[in-house]
Amino acid sequence: MAISADEFKAALATRAGAVAIVTARAGEQVHGMTVTDWAGVSVDPPLVLVCTDKSSNTLEVIEKGQCFAINVLARGQDALSNKFASKKDEWTRFDGLDVEQGPTGAPLITQAITSLDCRVVGAHDAGDHWIYVGEIQYAALRGGEPLVYCGGAYRGLAVEDA
Ligand SMILES: Cc1cc2nc3c(=O)[nH]c(=O)nc-3n(C[C@H](O)[C@H](O)[C@H](O)COP(=O)(O)O)c2cc1C
Repeated sequence: MAISADEFKAALATRAGAVAIVTARAGEQVHGMTVTDWAGVSVDPPLVLVCTDKSSNTLEVIEKGQCFAINVLARGQDALSNKFASKKDEWTRFDGLDVEQGPTGAPLITQAITSLDCRVVGAHDAGDHWIYVGEIQYAALRGGEPLVYCGGAYRGLAVEDA
């Protein structure tokens, strides 16, 4: 291999990413997990993508329900991010959380600064991950500063005067 797994992780740790919880619904089943591998793809039509590990339970629900929502966390919501990343009690992640439903039914987390409710329009096999492309059906823009993950740590944005 041109690059070891450790080198790959070290290289990617230099990238700052906005932390989000990707949620999904298939009938009565809801699930979600913490992600930083999500991105905007297209303005017209409005498309975003999310990369999900093939071993993830959330992937199963996205696949079954053909929808997902990207909920961008606010600075300081480290505990919420850790809860949705931990395998401990993973089926109780939504307990006590305030959510609403948009057109697809994927949970929209009202404490998030942004929620993007998406219908799956593409799925791409990419190594040990799947890339899901979603067309935004509804967006809630609540405002606030994002929670950033970089170098294995949660951070806020440092705004410097010009
Ligand atoms: C800051 C952070 C970012 C993460 N980003 C991703 C990601 O982009 N894609 C992914 O598949 N897992 C990501 N994970 C790992 C998942 O959140 C974790 O494996 C989770 O337990 C999966 O849950 P599930 O199997 O119930 O879906 C991330 C974890 C953390 C803490």
